[in-house]
Amino acid sequence: MYWASLLTASLASTAHAAATLRFSCAQLVVDRLDPLVQPGIAPSSHLHQVVGGNAFNVTMDPDQHDMASTATCTSCVPTEDFSNYWTAVLFFRAKNGTYKRVNTMGNGLGYSNSNGGQTVYYLSSGKVTAFKPGFRMTVGNPQYRTQAEARKNPSLQFTCLASSMTRTGYRYDFPTDTCAAGIMVTVRFPTCWDGKNLDSPDHQSHIAYPTGSKCPATHPVNIPQVFYETYWDTRPFNNKKDWPTDVQQPFVWSFGDKTGYGNHGDYMFGWKGDALQRAMDANCNSDLLSDKVNCPTLKQQTIAETNKCTVKRRVKEDIDGWLTELPGVSGMSMGKKV
Ligand SMILES: *[C@@H]1O[C@H](CO)[C@@H](O)[C@H](O)[C@H]1NC(C)=O
Ligand SMILES: *[C@@H]1O[C@H](CO)[C@@H](O)[C@H](O)[C@H]1NC(C)=O
Repeated sequence: MYWASLLTASLASTAHAAATLRFSCAQLVVDRLDPLVQPGIAPSSHLHQVVGGNAFNVTMDPDQHDMASTATCTSCVPTEDFSNYWTAVLFFRAKNGTYKRVNTMGNGLGYSNSNGGQTVYYLSSGKVTAFKPGFRMTVGNPQYRTQAEARKNPSLQFTCLASSMTRTGYRYDFPTDTCAAGIMVTVRFPTCWDGKNLDSPDHQSHIAYPTGSKCPATHPVNIPQVFYETYWDTRPFNNKKDWPTDVQQPFVWSFGDKTGYGNHGDYMFGWKGDALQRAMDANCNSDLLSDKVNCPTLKQQTIAETNKCTVKRRVKEDIDGWLTELPGVSGMSMGKKV
């Protein structure tokens, strides 16, 4: 009951004809690649944590790289979902100025046996048009450093987890106190599409937020709301004696942001056939008491199986030691085109 009411509170809508597809995706890889914003560049400018299909690669030209037929496994529970979902990586900055990478962990609300990664939602209220092959988008901006900038995207937020079920106290910047059960980062994408472009030069202008509850005339097509929840295991860094003294809190995004306002997410659609459209049309919902989705139209695997789908890191560099600088950020920022 507690979980059910929590979920109701945390989901966008319980109206009629609403889909609340929610599932776990284990960590596919942590690597310095960005086939959406910096295709062909290895290493890319900063480190990402990635989940989804194992067709994830340095270059993913939509005309030459069909994700659903290239991939042989997915780290997500629906086995027809070969999409890739990624965010930046969190680092802890120690008092002596060195950085230690923070791991993702399974979502305590049902998916704690996932090997890190993130929870993915596809939400709708009413009829939505699922994405087409080659569709991709980003939300947020790694250059934002103020709350006013961050508020342009209403739902890129942080939650200081007192327990894995905490769903209050959303904020746009890093929590300033210790979080007993880690930090949750939420990333919600806009829900309106121009109906024509699968991508755009800034990876955002082909999508838009609704005005009120309606999509604007420029972006008239309702698309599912893609929504990520990532649990960061900051628990090993909760001793304030190790925290730096020049800032309020010790965490920093992999692109050098100590505020948190640069939070952003990347999405590349890669579902097989019309599997996502069918699941949205069937108003599928999640079942918090198991790792299954209540969705007769979806083929599913267990979380133990999702943990087995990984890809090897392509960029050879130390990301696990106590590092004197964030990978790519203060030294040579980018690699060569390959
Ligand atoms: C990644 O791309 C390279 C170069 O096109 C290719 O040789 C390799 O097989 C690809 N890997 C995967 C997992 O698709
Ligand atoms: C810096 O601090 C961390 C955490 O206390 C420690 O593990 C690491 O060895 C230190 N590095 C140096 C170079 O002092």
